[in-house]
Amino acid sequence: MNILAVESSCDETAVAIVRDGREVLCDCIASQVELHRIYGGVVPEIASRKHIEAIYALADQALQQTGLARKDIDAIAVTYAPGLIGAVLVGVNFAKAAALALDKPLIPVHHIRGHIAANYIAYPDLKPPFLCLVVSGGHTMIAEITDYTQMRILGTTLDDAAGECFDKVARVLGMPYPGGAALDKTAKNGDDTRYPLPRSKPGANPYDMSFSGLKTAALNLIHHAEQVGEMLDIPGLCASFSAAVSDTLVPRVVRAVEETGLKNVAIAGGVAANSRIRADLLAAMEKLGATVYMPPLSLCGDNAAMIGAQAYYEYQSGNVADMHLNAYATKSILGEQI
Ligand code: KG4
Ligand code: ZN
Repeated sequence: MNILAVESSCDETAVAIVRDGREVLCDCIASQVELHRIYGGVVPEIASRKHIEAIYALADQALQQTGLARKDIDAIAVTYAPGLIGAVLVGVNFAKAAALALDKPLIPVHHIRGHIAANYIAYPDLKPPFLCLVVSGGHTMIAEITDYTQMRILGTTLDDAAGECFDKVARVLGMPYPGGAALDKTAKNGDDTRYPLPRSKPGANPYDMSFSGLKTAALNLIHHAEQVGEMLDIPGLCASFSAAVSDTLVPRVVRAVEETGLKNVAIAGGVAANSRIRADLLAAMEKLGATVYMPPLSLCGDNAAMIGAQAYYEYQSGNVADMHLNAYATKSILGEQI
């Protein structure tokens, strides 16, 4: 089954064609990152406009690259939530038009389910059940993936997402948007014990997390140094910050492995590209005899291939939308059938 998948929830316009959920025939991305950089973050109106400009040409490019004709496409999939509402709407409207014109099924995909499915592409043998640490710009959670379209959330962040904190701290340090990757790179030359930063344990659920205290502590440290004219050890601060984020995430995954007995652990989302988190997770899971699944960096960030992968399983579970499909800025990953 050839699925043409569309992703436009943030600042990447992407179209991919994926066969049977696992084989990526093409993965086309038009990134807007450079455009938003001068503003220090994504400007929603500009994002929507650029998605409209790019999406038709990208779909044509996808067909050309694969040599497939429109009649060879069996379904259209699209990220329908969550994301910047104007941006998601562009993808949803394009997908509806394509499904209507080609008379093919329309498959709605939750963006975060897509991130998790990036692992199906990277690891063709990976099957549920498994645990997944989801860390992106807007989401942070530990989930038990019980089936391709069924999951149980063990814990989430109660405030900021991990990616948000990386970006905020990087921005205050003067790094270009999105700062997570730049902060990660700078951290590699730093001493991770240089600055003491908090690891908070919020609420009653041991799997829940909080990053706002860590973010505030890092920002206060930077502002205080500025005020008193103290030179900061930037690599040391980046390393200390990355260690604090990783120490918030990884022990909870360890607990999840111990409590569920699941020995397959995946990681998903843009922050899954972080070298410190990857290394710590790998080391911790090795001690437990668990197997770690980490998508290559190209599949950690936003892309349409992951949407096409998840769409295959959504379709099989009967999740098909009609022309009333809408876009949503927020929506639970557990989502009801549409
Ligand atoms: O999943 P994603 O592409 O978009 C959302 O769905 O939110 O995640 C983007 C986030 C940004 O916050 C970006 O700074 C962060 O992922 N990111 C990283 C790294 N690469 C991307 N954060 C830390 N270390 C990295 N190497
Ligand atoms: Zn994403």
